[in-house]
Amino acid sequence: MSPFLLTRTLPVDATDAALRADVLAGLTRRPKTLPPKWFYDARGSELFEEITRLPEYYPTRAEREILVAHAADIAAASGARTLIELGSGSSEKTRHLLDAFGALHSYVPVDVSESALTGAAEALLAERPELNVHALIADFTGGLALPGTPGPRLVAFLGGTVGNLLPEERATFLRSVRSILSPGDALLLGTDLVKEEGTLVAAYDDAAGVTAAFNKNVLEVVNRELDADFDPAAFDHVARWDADAEWIEMRLRARSAFTVKIHELDLVVPFDEGEELRTEVSAKFRRERVREELGAAALRLDQWWTDTGGRFAVSLATAV
Ligand code: AVJ
Repeated sequence: MSPFLLTRTLPVDATDAALRADVLAGLTRRPKTLPPKWFYDARGSELFEEITRLPEYYPTRAEREILVAHAADIAAASGARTLIELGSGSSEKTRHLLDAFGALHSYVPVDVSESALTGAAEALLAERPELNVHALIADFTGGLALPGTPGPRLVAFLGGTVGNLLPEERATFLRSVRSILSPGDALLLGTDLVKEEGTLVAAYDDAAGVTAAFNKNVLEVVNRELDADFDPAAFDHVARWDADAEWIEMRLRARSAFTVKIHELDLVVPFDEGEELRTEVSAKFRRERVREELGAAALRLDQWWTDTGGRFAVSLATAV
């Protein structure tokens, strides 16, 4: 018998309703915005995997270096018997961790993609047949109903994805993570760090144009899902460092004036020449800010590990 359970907490049509609401709200305001979570259809996920292998995109390699170097420290410090991973995707990063957790009882990958979850669970169980894998199809930005597996719990949120949330969303998110933890449980958080502008901009505007294709893919998602007629070639990819907010913004800039029809919403969206649609914010952090934001959610920063280049950090915080 395979110790694999899959629980859907997300109604099958929830994604569709959320996309409609986000597109309607985001394209009828100024400046126009679309949330970055809509990049990740099958093609977008493929393009992101390609991004992680680009010479300019250092975060994935930097985080892997940290996880490999400190997996044993993470396992020992957390003493976790249940590892919950938010936005687990292929669970590729988790491999480095799982081997270090001798006493792990359960692994709970949480993702909106059912195919990613079943694929990852299959691969994991082939290597660790005794592990209980309880996958959750859920949007981790909402509340989570966790299985009753033994504590202590460690929640991992890796890749720097927390930077995609705006400061207020981040505060809400960290409080909701804290609400599923008991005192003594822990959060493992990956954050990209503030660094020289040229390095940051290159990571989001690579020479091969993969990030540009990834950015434009969100238009293909809206075309397909909401019967829209965006022409991706009518936009330029823009990556800009906002030094005050300390975040990278990805935008799509209209090369001329035109209108876009979104048939499923009965919506006509006018673009001015040069108008920019913001598709992603990717915040970069400093240790003090991470400590403060965790503290505001009753999480105490206990460990802070960086890669040898000092580009990326993994934090271990304890619920107090
Ligand atoms: C997967 C959210 C961490 O913000 O760096 C990569 C996504 N966007 N290139 C990031 C992304 C453009 C990535 N995260």
